[in-house]
Amino acid sequence: MLIPFKAIDWRDNKIILLDQTLIPASEEYVAYDCVEPLIEAIQRLVVRGAPALGVAGAFGVVIVLDEAHRKNWSHDQREKALDALGNARPTAVNLGWAVEKIRKLISLGRDAVLEGAYQLAAEDKQSCIDMGNIGADWFIKTLGEKPLTFLTHCNTGSLGTTGTGTALGVIREMHNRRLVKEVYVDETRPLLQGSRLTAWELMKSNIPYRIEADGAAAMAILSGRIDAALIGADRIAKNGDSANKIGSLSVALACHAAGIPFLVVAPESSVDRSLETGSEIHIEFRSDEELTYFKGVQVAPIGAKTFNPAFDITPAKYISAVITELGAYEISMGETL
Ligand code: MRU
Repeated sequence: MLIPFKAIDWRDNKIILLDQTLIPASEEYVAYDCVEPLIEAIQRLVVRGAPALGVAGAFGVVIVLDEAHRKNWSHDQREKALDALGNARPTAVNLGWAVEKIRKLISLGRDAVLEGAYQLAAEDKQSCIDMGNIGADWFIKTLGEKPLTFLTHCNTGSLGTTGTGTALGVIREMHNRRLVKEVYVDETRPLLQGSRLTAWELMKSNIPYRIEADGAAAMAILSGRIDAALIGADRIAKNGDSANKIGSLSVALACHAAGIPFLVVAPESSVDRSLETGSEIHIEFRSDEELTYFKGVQVAPIGAKTFNPAFDITPAKYISAVITELGAYEISMGETL
């Protein structure tokens, strides 16, 4: 499947990011060759989505090496920059995982580091294809070979990976097999990854979709409009508890109440087997302004307190299957990751 844009690229010794804060109004690419602006871009969500963050972190190690060389940094300065890069956002395990994996190659020289980053990106791309096939096969096995209406939350497509996507990769594969009736896209407050990014990707791929307010998801599900919901993950604990964009848990609970499948689709690099349960996952909290302002306009009383977790954790018991590139794990049926 041809994806007409690239969330992340490497050109002329720079990371090129498609600025996701500007989509869908404009498609602008920004080049980075210093680590501080790259970290700022990660925190501002210029690049976002767990697998894409991993790939950005991998190429980011090359950026740190080159900058250290150009500016004659001490070993300590270089190590601090790598730590800061790996910790730029805490919930998506892929970022720290990729930085640690690629920094181990530094002793082998810059070419090996760059080659390692390219390989990590290629593996991410392939994992999307594999998850797409495994997920589509799971739906056919579970619900039969018929067109389905899906609901998804946040963005899990080619903007959040270097391939076809995780949950959106499964939807794309179902569409290839002519098995998608329509996709309900949760708007995904407060930063609108659903209406800005997922809808944009589905529009570009001619997959039928409609946008709904996050608060409409439970009604859509319980009124029988949805056959199944599927989301991505930022970190999955060993027991299958899964962290994903805030609002994912509400979708899972509604699916549970309606008795329809709720799938988590994520590469093995998002599985953190060092954590026994989801309660150990570090949840990122973001600024008050994300809730009290909308595009620079004040939408809440000055001084309003907020509760703004970027992610929530869906207990494994509400997940019908976790799909990775290695298979479909039906944890609530006793399977282990
Ligand atoms: O804050 P974001 O936009 O980085 O959050 C992203 C998500 O929650 C995605 O659903 C998840 O990373 C999977 S991306 C394939």
